[in-house]
Amino acid sequence: MTDKGVLDAGLIQPIVAELKSQGITGIVIYSEISAEPETHVVESCRDVFINESCDGIIGIGGGSAMDTAKAVAVYQSEKRALNELFGENNCARRTVPLICLPTTAGTGSEVTNISILSDVEAQLKKGIVSDELLPDVAIVAPELTQSCPPSVTAASGIDALVHAVESYISNFASDITRALSVGAIKMIVNALPDAYRRPDDLDARERMATGSLMAGLAFGNAGVGAVHALAYPLGGRYHLSHGVSNALMFTHVMRWNLSSCPNDFLNIALAMGAEATISEADAGDFVIEKLESLCRAVEIPGGLREFGIERSDLRSIAEAASGVTRLLRNNPRELSVDDIEAIYQAAY
Ligand SMILES: NC(=O)c1ccc[n+]([C@@H]2O[C@H](COP(=O)([O-])OP(=O)(O)OC[C@H]3O[C@@H](n4cnc5c(N)ncnc54)[C@H](O)[C@@H]3O)[C@@H](O)[C@H]2O)c1
Ligand SMILES: [Fe+2]
Repeated sequence: MTDKGVLDAGLIQPIVAELKSQGITGIVIYSEISAEPETHVVESCRDVFINESCDGIIGIGGGSAMDTAKAVAVYQSEKRALNELFGENNCARRTVPLICLPTTAGTGSEVTNISILSDVEAQLKKGIVSDELLPDVAIVAPELTQSCPPSVTAASGIDALVHAVESYISNFASDITRALSVGAIKMIVNALPDAYRRPDDLDARERMATGSLMAGLAFGNAGVGAVHALAYPLGGRYHLSHGVSNALMFTHVMRWNLSSCPNDFLNIALAMGAEATISEADAGDFVIEKLESLCRAVEIPGGLREFGIERSDLRSIAEAASGVTRLLRNNPRELSVDDIEAIYQAAY
């Protein structure tokens, strides 16, 4: 299961050839997956899976292809409707093997128990959360990301950094997830500008792939927070890509969070390369400036206004975001609807 962009980049054919040479025949390629996949894609992909009597799934692509593959893996044997699987722990035991190969760096979806789909009617991105979605095998090969266009490298790379930072400050972080978050922050901050400027730079791609994987392991256990919660309605209503909508909210939400966990921001600043002598008081500004300069370096657009979003819509977007309690409960500082609206205003 993949999408057209990945297929056209020539990434699928060598893998299929290798599988065939190992005696695996009857391979069906499904490449109709759309970016930020809608629920109907999962329905039609499942039909193909059943009609072709498939007995296992390999998801190859960015988060969109892997999330679809994960959803089909649990849905293909399910008697209930797809929308009954949304939420936490609503999946029956998965009956077919599932392997994921990321081609972006990235969502970390190859090691998480979540599949994010766009619910067109609700105009919201929704998650199926279940350990049944965890792939049996994740194959992280940086070579698969070399064909990523710069805009995808930028958006998915900032997404990975958001995973690392949000999991570090999450209410559910542990010493183990924090070690992974710090490792990811160090790698991504250094490697992203290189991977963006020089797509073929395999060393930068390898550091990004590793950083993305570590961030995925961290947030898969500790969760992400308000950046993701506020990004969801932007994806659901205005079809901004996941990485871009996260990037637009990143610095504004972090400014809000600074006062709640200054020592965490000191550690994040150190991971981002601050002098060892930096004070807790200066660490917050260092992190915000570093994030802003990184977003500029990879040419992420400036504000919500650039995406045709009306200022008068911000209240109802804030109301939608305040319903994403699954993620807001991870955030170190609580947010009321008014607080969320103020953050959207600042990001406008
Ligand atoms: N399950 C999770 O844990 C998780 C975490 C974060 C994000 N997500 C979801 O992942 C999706 C975003 O995934 P993404 O940022 O990886 O982007 P994507 O999968 O939507 O891909 C973006 C575009 O890049 C192309 N592309 C991907 N890899 C390529 C390559 N190597 N060469 C050429 N083109 C390539 C694709 O064809 C597509 O057109 C969103 O739906 C988001 O909600 C899921
Ligand atoms: Fe994300």
